[in-house]
Amino acid sequence: MDIESLKRDFRTVYGPEPQIFRAPGRVNLIGEHTDYNEGFVMPAAIDFYTWVAIAPRSDSKVNIRSQSFEDNLSIDLDGDLRPRHAWSDYVVGVLEQIKHEGNAVSGADILIHGEVPIGAGLSSSAAIEVAVGYAKLAEDGRAIDRVKLALLCQRAENQFVGMRCGIMDQFISCNGQRDHALMLDCRSLQYKLLPLASTARMVICNTMVKHELAAGEYNRRRADCEEGVRILTKYLPQVRALRDVVPEQLEHYRDKLPAIIYRRCRHVVTENDRVERAATVLQKGDLTGFGKLMAESHRSLRDDYEVSCRELDIMVEIARPQKGVYGARMTGGGFGGCTINIVAAEQAESFKRHVAVAYEAATNLQPEIYISTAAEGAARVS
Ligand code: GLA
Repeated sequence: MDIESLKRDFRTVYGPEPQIFRAPGRVNLIGEHTDYNEGFVMPAAIDFYTWVAIAPRSDSKVNIRSQSFEDNLSIDLDGDLRPRHAWSDYVVGVLEQIKHEGNAVSGADILIHGEVPIGAGLSSSAAIEVAVGYAKLAEDGRAIDRVKLALLCQRAENQFVGMRCGIMDQFISCNGQRDHALMLDCRSLQYKLLPLASTARMVICNTMVKHELAAGEYNRRRADCEEGVRILTKYLPQVRALRDVVPEQLEHYRDKLPAIIYRRCRHVVTENDRVERAATVLQKGDLTGFGKLMAESHRSLRDDYEVSCRELDIMVEIARPQKGVYGARMTGGGFGGCTINIVAAEQAESFKRHVAVAYEAATNLQPEIYISTAAEGAARVS
């Protein structure tokens, strides 16, 4: 990333010298569709960022531009802020939330540069929300509470954009730690840092498919889980979320649930259990054990939760028998996007070459494959 050229572009468009901030995308190692069920996830921030150049204005206007999109936007923070169903909703949604908190928000000029592949399930939306939120709060001289910032960005996405996402993406974009994954309890928001073995790499394979139905299907899965909780609380009154249900309890009440709701619940309940076991084996350095849990997670997402797709399944099948592979699964919301693979460091490059050739032969699509390290959360860049 050429920071000087971002600054130069900013000066050309707006005049003053900007401050620069950035927030990363993420990959999730295990724990999918568990966050909005108050369960466990295990994401790591990746070294792909959204960069924000910002300078204050003396009025209440905010000018928003991105180097990746043609359309620019100018809004008045004192006016009525409405979604336009465009990329800028992530920015305006965050500004609206900052305003809601009762803060006097002044205007700003903003130029955004995005590196996180869009629509690839690597949380480009959380990266833009967190980068803008962090930048605006810091510019206004406010202390940054990273947990509060993550919650603020999640509210922006839930309420302004209309995507009922959980807390995982915004949380890891705020709190990522170099060379570590986080095991996050999405109920208490407490987390444990899990060091990633220096002998292995996270290899992210982008299927290059993006299914338009993703947001609708996502919200539907959430509703299915809520329906499961509604029925289960009749028999288990202490249950507040699927997090509170263990696999044996779910089996016990299986015939009280419609078949499809049962399968959705089974994914969530067993996935929570897998994340806890995955943290234990990772702490012992048992990557083979970790990989087995990744395989189970993929099967459960494919068969019970039904959020995988043909290309994700092909990518996982191709990866599994390759040399040096410990584990492979889809990552993120699903319906396209990426797989995450844990691969022995010395095999990562040959893995990348072999998988690219085999995936293209099977699908006629040229994949993008990234070897990533676990990165730091949002920061000001001096
Ligand atoms: C998307 C959402 C997250 C999480 C994942 C699935 O990335 O934004 O909150 O639910 O899907 O694990």
